[in-house]
Amino acid sequence: MIVVRHDFPTMDYCCTELASHLTASARRRVAEAGKFTLVLAGGSTPKQLYQLLAAPPFADTFPWSQTHFFWGDERCVPPGHPHSNYRMAQETLFNQLPVPPANIHRMAGDMDPATAALAYEGLLRSFFAPGACSIESADFPCFDLILLGLGPDGHTASLFPDSPALAEQTRWVVATPPPPLEPRVPRLTLTLPVLNHAASVVFLISGPEKKTLADAILAGQEAAELPPAARVRPCDEVHWYVSEQET
Ligand code: 6PG
Repeated sequence: MIVVRHDFPTMDYCCTELASHLTASARRRVAEAGKFTLVLAGGSTPKQLYQLLAAPPFADTFPWSQTHFFWGDERCVPPGHPHSNYRMAQETLFNQLPVPPANIHRMAGDMDPATAALAYEGLLRSFFAPGACSIESADFPCFDLILLGLGPDGHTASLFPDSPALAEQTRWVVATPPPPLEPRVPRLTLTLPVLNHAASVVFLISGPEKKTLADAILAGQEAAELPPAARVRPCDEVHWYVSEQET
């Protein structure tokens, strides 16, 4: 696994560089395989990145019609709810761009959580044909790039410390109970094996608190209990885009 850290003084600089990285990755993968599978992060930090991608020059250079969009996690609320990660992406990204609706693969936050997790796993299994991955592993999907955030407790996606979901080694998507952080609603999340089978994982974090947390994670400090984000170790590469300035 290659770990690359990119530090920036401001979110503008950080997000511009990350938008360039994502666009180059997408264009390269579309040229190789005809499509790009991208998992979006939720929360508030990625908003600025998505708004940047939705404006020139990225709006004109990113291969929107050949990209398939997924989510790393979702809050179990309706798609129009202020806490919905899908709504955030719609408002900041999709409403401005020519993304075919069939390329937007929403987690059903408005469905019973356990049923929604099974449904999303079924969607992924039908999308990813065996052998579709550069990394030979028919058991798990191989996303081209997974974008993740980082919570103050070291959670990522909706994999929270001490959550039973962290031990899941078979399911691709699980439902989790409300976390001890806002919004305290049940969640849907990709599991660690799925995150670790991605061709590339990119963390986008901002602010001194999360920067310090990233320092500890990347220093490989032997914490008694590694935070969930420290357990994201895909075979190929992990990029950390770190902005000193808070979102
Ligand atoms: C979510 C996210 C979650 C998020 C972190 C950071 O649904 O909340 O997927 O993992 O990335 O909690 O959130 P902020 O970017 O809002 O700080």
